[in-house]
Amino acid sequence: MVSLRRYLQRKRMHRLLPNAPVGTAAPNFFLLSGGNYIWIGKNFWAWDGLRLEAITEYKGSRFTPRIEIGDRVRAGPHLHVGAIGLVQIGHGTNIGSFVTIIDHSHGDPEVATGKPPADDPLTSKGNISIGQRCWIGDKATVLGGVTIGDDSIVGANSVVTKSFPPHSVIGGIPAQLIRTRA
Ligand SMILES: CC(C)(COP(=O)(O)OP(=O)(O)OC[C@H]1O[C@@H](n2cnc3c(N)ncnc32)[C@H](O)[C@@H]1OP(=O)(O)O)[C@@H](O)C(=O)NCCC(=O)NCCS
Repeated sequence: MVSLRRYLQRKRMHRLLPNAPVGTAAPNFFLLSGGNYIWIGKNFWAWDGLRLEAITEYKGSRFTPRIEIGDRVRAGPHLHVGAIGLVQIGHGTNIGSFVTIIDHSHGDPEVATGKPPADDPLTSKGNISIGQRCWIGDKATVLGGVTIGDDSIVGANSVVTKSFPPHSVIGGIPAQLIRTRA
């Protein structure tokens, strides 16, 4: 038995995210674009402020984005996942508050075009893969071209700019290996 409000939210979630299982929990407010390019596993749960963006076109450039969120992924408030390529979050991964997982930037950091950044084309250093059963601490940011292996922990406030193998505990800006879990 679910409340009418919850029922309508879930119906709206399913309309916007056709690749999510029927009944996927919907946060009170969320922002979605490119729902046809977003795959959600079973028992996904996220707090309010969820922002999922699979971007197919920007300033005349076309992209084939794909966001894949595994089963039993849980996220705190204000998770932002943005993709122009492939962004994967493995089964059982837990995500803290105000986390950003984004594979693209505005323009080329080495070239100032004289335009507002929003008018520059989107660029990416590559796909993002976050393994299974990882824990992403509050306010962490994971950037393009990064793979984080299974069972890893990303410390609070980290900015992850390069890849780490399974069982890594990483932290800092840029994130460095703190320890390897047994
Ligand atoms: C990453 C974390 C799990 C590490 O825990 P730990 O293994 O007990 O680490 P320690 O406290 O022993 O610290 C080990 C070293 O890492 C550093 N460190 C720990 N967390 C760090 C972080 N988030 N960023 C940068 N460095 C960090 C410590 O300063 C210490 O450095 P030193 O050896 O130079 O003194 C923990 O610090 C953390 O950030 N947890 C996330 C909390 C959170 O976001 N909770 C939300 C709930 S979803």
